[in-house]
Amino acid sequence: MCGIIGLVGSFNHYDVLLKGLKRLEYRGYDSSGIGYLNKDGIVINKYPESVDTLFKEVKKFTAYCSIGHTRWATHGKVSYKNTHPFISKNGLFCLVHNGTINNFLTLKEELISNGYIMNGDTDSEVLVNYLEYLFLNNHNILLSLKLLDSKLDGSYSLVIISKNEEALYFLKNQTSLLLIEKEEGYVLTSDVYSLDDKEINYYEFEDHQYGKIDNNVEIYKNDIKISHNFKRLIKDDVNINSCSCYLEKELFECPALIEKEIQYYSKSESIPQNVINELNSKRKIYVIGCGTSFHAGLIFKEIVDKEVEVILASEFIYQNKSLNENDGYIFISQSGETLDVIRSIEKVKNAFFISITNNKDSTISRKSKYHFDIMVQKEISVASTKAYFGEVVFLYILAKRMNDENYKEIFDLPFRMNQIKSNIKEIETLAYQVKEYKNLLFLGKGIDYLSCLECSLKLKEITYIHSEAIYLGELKHGPLALINKDFPSIILITNDELKEIGEISINEIKSRDGKVFIKQFDSSYKLSFLLQVYYYDFLAFLVAKNLGVNIDKPRNLAKSVTVE
Ligand code: G6P
Repeated sequence: MCGIIGLVGSFNHYDVLLKGLKRLEYRGYDSSGIGYLNKDGIVINKYPESVDTLFKEVKKFTAYCSIGHTRWATHGKVSYKNTHPFISKNGLFCLVHNGTINNFLTLKEELISNGYIMNGDTDSEVLVNYLEYLFLNNHNILLSLKLLDSKLDGSYSLVIISKNEEALYFLKNQTSLLLIEKEEGYVLTSDVYSLDDKEINYYEFEDHQYGKIDNNVEIYKNDIKISHNFKRLIKDDVNINSCSCYLEKELFECPALIEKEIQYYSKSESIPQNVINELNSKRKIYVIGCGTSFHAGLIFKEIVDKEVEVILASEFIYQNKSLNENDGYIFISQSGETLDVIRSIEKVKNAFFISITNNKDSTISRKSKYHFDIMVQKEISVASTKAYFGEVVFLYILAKRMNDENYKEIFDLPFRMNQIKSNIKEIETLAYQVKEYKNLLFLGKGIDYLSCLECSLKLKEITYIHSEAIYLGELKHGPLALINKDFPSIILITNDELKEIGEISINEIKSRDGKVFIKQFDSSYKLSFLLQVYYYDFLAFLVAKNLGVNIDKPRNLAKSVTVE
């Protein structure tokens, strides 16, 4: 359940729908499907494979309206029966869904006791049938959508074709759904990037809104008709140029983008003094994110002279502790669309918070009074690299401003990253050795351990080599048991004072036939901890390239996880 799109009007439906789905694949690519209405009725094409299969298998078609879906599996295996769109028992409705329904089993039982048979395991198949079940009782689609909304517990953006109308219906709660206005008609979709238009007019639906879109736009909430205003957006360009994959492009362009970001945020007005003062006045600051963004948050805690707790968004949502009104919050999400982070914001929406994203037109940025853009341009590869550096750069400047310290060392960062880039041959040699292993440890201390976390995540997600980040001092308390000639370690040490303790660990590993890889970085440079991540990101990329795996789309993952 992840990326959805629907079109109504005189579009080249085949083209816009399939290309739109391709662009939504960052939300999942386990399976893909489309449905459309033409003079023969509703037609469906779906495959438990990525959107490339749709391009190969689906014949060109014309339609009055159409819907499409690219899935990241949550309920049920990747299989035909669990692939969207779903059609209702009597063929009245065809639907795509992004989100998860918590009470779908209760609704499913109700439907089964009323003669409905469902073939798959998804909550979405229940939704389309439940909508039909409601409609058969009241013969009014809008009323049925309102009733469906009241029955559901969970997150849902639904785009629906009705068998007898040249229109799209929709319902939205807790996961983004936008309406885009085009010359040919209207588009309903999860995000603005599903269209390749440079400029877009869009309206973002609010929770519990539902309605009908044909030549006209009808939006309702609780039976009340809602008026809408379109916002204009001008998008950044994304160009892969001559690189073999987006990850390579994104690693290479990183220093230049970071340089612009540093220039921008080093102007004091770009992080207003009142934001610095507010954060400093707080009893404690919570930093909240997922995955790589969570790792960036850990760096902030290390640098800032203040009480900070860094929490995974998925944990924060379910924490039962009462909120202290003297606390402040920093939300980090490169995509700005991660549902766990959005739900975390909703939990503290009345408190002082700032958000940091790489998408100024995202749900998270729209929800934030103080939003900061890391300005590294759209990241396509699922593994986040340049966004990590963008987040850390911003957080580093923020922390230094809060500490009232200068941060002149950061101006040298792009130059030093460029040095790593131009020395890629050395990393290629290392990659050639590392690709032979199935397991690996990243070992570090202090801030280097935080770099280990990110290096380890990157290596495992794109190469499938199992790796763990371990505190150097913890090696002897368990992980050493893993070490043998097939289980090497990469040691990260940028602090000269720790070299001696590092030597001890290295000897302990070597005495057990373990191979040790270690790269020296300039210990006099304060941001060497970050240069290490850049270096080992290149390693992960080059190992993946050697192994011949799909670098930009690792199996089972999605760029942005828009479900819980
Ligand atoms: C997914 C991606 C990760 C990313 C995480 C958080 O798991 O695969 O690369 O770090 O989401 O994403 P966000 O957009 O919120 O930073």
